[in-house]
Amino acid sequence: MVIPDVLVIGEILLELSSTEPLDAGVALTLNFSGDALNAAAAAAAAGAHTALLARVPDDELGDRLLERVVALGIDTSQVLRVPGQHGLYLQHADPSGAREFTYVRRGSAGSGLGPGDVPLELVAKAGAVLASGIACAISPLSAKAVRLAAATSRCFVYDPNWRPRLVSAVGAGEHLRALAQYTRLVTPAWAHEAQLATDATDPVAACTAIRALGVDAVALTRGAEGVLLDDAGRIVEIPVIPAPAVVDQTGAGDSFAGTVTARLALGDTLEDSVRLGVAAASLSVGGLGGTGHVATLAQTRAHATNAINVPAGEPQAHATNASAREPRACVTNGAAEVSA
Ligand SMILES: Nc1ncnc2c1ncn2[C@@H]1O[C@H](COP(=O)(O)OP(=O)(O)O)[C@@H](O)[C@H]1O
Ligand SMILES: [Mg+2]
Repeated sequence: MVIPDVLVIGEILLELSSTEPLDAGVALTLNFSGDALNAAAAAAAAGAHTALLARVPDDELGDRLLERVVALGIDTSQVLRVPGQHGLYLQHADPSGAREFTYVRRGSAGSGLGPGDVPLELVAKAGAVLASGIACAISPLSAKAVRLAAATSRCFVYDPNWRPRLVSAVGAGEHLRALAQYTRLVTPAWAHEAQLATDATDPVAACTAIRALGVDAVALTRGAEGVLLDDAGRIVEIPVIPAPAVVDQTGAGDSFAGTVTARLALGDTLEDSVRLGVAAASLSVGGLGGTGHVATLAQTRAHATNAINVPAGEPQAHATNASAREPRACVTNGAAEVSA
């Protein structure tokens, strides 16, 4: 059994994307996506041995899908082939990040992932585990699988990725609260995902409130404003790195989460991991779809370094009056028992 640095849990989706608004007669391009795949691709590109835990239909298209997963440098040894249908979504390229997807995924094979599919020994040994609110939203069974993995993991990273077409705000908030106690890092997007947990209107106050749920650290992604990192009360504002090209915002947050999780698992500090995540996300928006542009680690490092050399990009660091405590390292956080 090869122990991965990063295990990503979720559903791989077919992506049908168009450069025009969706309507009759519009040409669509088929690709493979879903936040778990996007994040896993970013984690692999960031240097981590990355495995995906997912259910994939046992058909020809599933074979092609897995070829793409392998081509992205991802370990497929934890992928389960099962009868059933693919989940998919339709989108048009979205440079503004303003639209919602149209999903066709209810009852999909991927949403049948359950606690019995979670390889406990591997999860316990993996450097880090990454899952999202989408994996929790697709079915109650999948939410239980995520919770079991989170409780078993040494270092769990959670990206809330709230999709109102999949789950209500109340439901998404419940998923976050249920996982908080196991979570090393949560990556909510400001402001809509922070507000799943708090009605604070100030980003720093929101981070404090989210940590109060039991999370060690919060990386609040703020689109063009960059990231506000609250690591056990130590606040660092990390500016966005201007993107060389903006084609499609889809997957920026996934690229960020995957890169940060990879670097954390490989032993970087949380702040360094987040800085590299910001650089990777900035490059990711240059491609169409969730994995349209996955930068190499060398490209991402170069992009991050260029940003550091720009004086206007100087980060600000200041402590809040929140009681600072040592952040939990990526070591065991006392796995609790979770019933299947
Ligand atoms: N157009 C952009 N240019 C550069 N960086 C971007 C851009 N859009 C997003 N990012 C980076 O990606 C991170 C995640 O994006 P965000 O839109 O906040 O999350 P999500 O994709 O989950 O909605 C941001 O904090 C930012 O660092
Ligand atoms: Mg997101």
